[in-house]
Amino acid sequence: MRRQGLLWFLAAILAAVVGAQESKPVSLPAPQTDGGRPLMQVLKERKSTREFSGEKLPAQVLANLLWAGFGVNRLDGRRTAPSAMNWQEIAIYVVTAEGAYAYDAAKNQLEPVAKEDLRSLTGAQSFVATAPVNLVYVADLTKASGDASEKELFTGADTGFIAQNVYLYCASEGLATVVRASVDREALGKALKLKATQKIVLAQTVGYPKK
Ligand SMILES: Cc1cc2nc3c(=O)[nH]c(=O)nc-3n(C[C@H](O)[C@H](O)[C@H](O)COP(=O)(O)O)c2cc1C
Repeated sequence: MRRQGLLWFLAAILAAVVGAQESKPVSLPAPQTDGGRPLMQVLKERKSTREFSGEKLPAQVLANLLWAGFGVNRLDGRRTAPSAMNWQEIAIYVVTAEGAYAYDAAKNQLEPVAKEDLRSLTGAQSFVATAPVNLVYVADLTKASGDASEKELFTGADTGFIAQNVYLYCASEGLATVVRASVDREALGKALKLKATQKIVLAQTVGYPKK
């Protein structure tokens, strides 16, 4: 009986250690900020695509994508996209086959949110389940001020700037993308363990185009 208790205790410790390791932040490579194609060419090619190959994005490409979307581009912590009154209230959640993460722009790392593959919950269209990356733009309303309609307007606008940065990076890099409003916000919010003050604004699928 005592031996069983000891085994149970050791198993619990092992599970706690493994669990803690699994929920460690994932460091991203430093973003490459000096490349890319000329802006006017990129604008010529910016478009929505709804067919994706299953090929995963390399870590470097993901780091560049997130930095382009809403990375830190100045020493004072300001970002690649503007935000109303510099609220910086939009968080980018990254949903992949390996799990869901919140992008920490200041630390250039991914904070684990869920271990499961939640891609199918990120939208109503079938490609979301197999495309390698779905970004989910989540507004933290505690960082916003004004009445509800102002909050809605500004969080929507702030998300739009980020989504366009992602579109432009994708056009530069030959990636496929589409921004999406058709999301079951309640189900996805639950799966991403969002608080009542966090609201999903839009989602955006990113991957390589289907050949
Ligand atoms: C706010 C917003 C919501 C959108 N929601 C969806 C969506 O749920 N599903 C989808 O396939 N495309 C969605 N789109 C993409 C538009 O359909 C697309 O941008 C439009 O047809 C123009 O095509 P283009 O981006 O290739 O110029 C959305 C775009 C915006 C700006």
